[in-house]
Amino acid sequence: MHLMEKEIKNKFIGAFNKEPLMVSAPGRINIIGEHTDYNMGFVLPAAIDKHIVFAIAENGSQMHRLISYDLNDEIDVPANSIEKTEKHWANYLVGVIAQIQKMGKTLSGVDCVFGGNIPLGAGLSSSAALETGFAFALNEVFNLGLSKIEIVKLSQMAEHEYAGVKCGIMDQFASVFSEQDKVIKLDCRSLEYKLYPFKLDGYDIILCDTQVKHSLASSEYNTRRHECESGVAILQKYNPKIQSLRDVSPELLYQHKSEFNPTVYKRCKFVVEEIKRLTDACEALERNDLATVGKLMYSTHYGLRDEYEVSCSELDILVDIAEKSGAVIGSRVMGGGFGGCTINIVDKTKTNEFIDIATKGYKAQTGLDLLVYNVSIKQGTSIIN
Ligand code: GLA
Repeated sequence: MHLMEKEIKNKFIGAFNKEPLMVSAPGRINIIGEHTDYNMGFVLPAAIDKHIVFAIAENGSQMHRLISYDLNDEIDVPANSIEKTEKHWANYLVGVIAQIQKMGKTLSGVDCVFGGNIPLGAGLSSSAALETGFAFALNEVFNLGLSKIEIVKLSQMAEHEYAGVKCGIMDQFASVFSEQDKVIKLDCRSLEYKLYPFKLDGYDIILCDTQVKHSLASSEYNTRRHECESGVAILQKYNPKIQSLRDVSPELLYQHKSEFNPTVYKRCKFVVEEIKRLTDACEALERNDLATVGKLMYSTHYGLRDEYEVSCSELDILVDIAEKSGAVIGSRVMGGGFGGCTINIVDKTKTNEFIDIATKGYKAQTGLDLLVYNVSIKQGTSIIN
């Protein structure tokens, strides 16, 4: 057990005086396929070696006693009257309990301490990890018999209803289904998936954390969803089988350009081209052609910046530095956008040099300190023995 896990376990034993079950739920990266999940397209995520750890046990009462180790905060939530609390962090957990209850399962009280090292608001899906980890832990503690995909879906619904973000399924899916050194090509419509080996001989996956999170993030996210839906409505008139942008080829969209409001057109163009880029990237991965994957990642960034408009100056500066450094074969904003991290595939022999250039360049251009994470790909949510 690592230090953080031991600390959380000890905090639990100190607070509740019994042995807990220990569960770990990871954050995620996404190689390519951004804002495609809620358009029923494909994504290519993987869990990373940053996670939230839960220490949990039944307490035989009708009260959930929840402790956030990192925030040094706690809350008691009555098991039979679940509703939003005034504590933001607790709502992710309460949201999970509410979803499990909706499935017709009864939960008596649990004691839980959780904490972790996934930076918050950095686009690494700390909220999905909180949801899936807690759902997984409750499933174990109460023997609820939930399948992995049920854990994923109920966690996604908790995010919709208790965090107010109408997210797609990528983050929760990656947190649960990931495997060591593999990326998941997930079909977000059928939920079929394929694992691709992603052991990068000669390269590092470096995340550059802007340390900014613009407040637009969740409202603009929901707006993008609506913009995509209104694009679908236009094309549906020609073919009622079109249910989402997944069903729209780039050519079909280009043909109907004049019927679109220019903003909606740009959004849809990004998504249909991004779905194509992901398919191309997977083909490249099969040939072990990482250089092509990298080029596609840069194209994704330009699309997210100019057409989907979910980037920001801090992210653009970092991608620009990466591109000019000669050390980075692919770089782009990752996740929902408006701050958070860029993901960079960096030539291992130049990693230190790149980190140095990026740190100095970012400071010079923004006045901000850059945080850098060299991440590796790990298995999804699991019990810690
Ligand atoms: C957030 C959401 C995901 C996905 C990404 C963008 O991380 O939670 O469902 O839509 O943004 O790809």
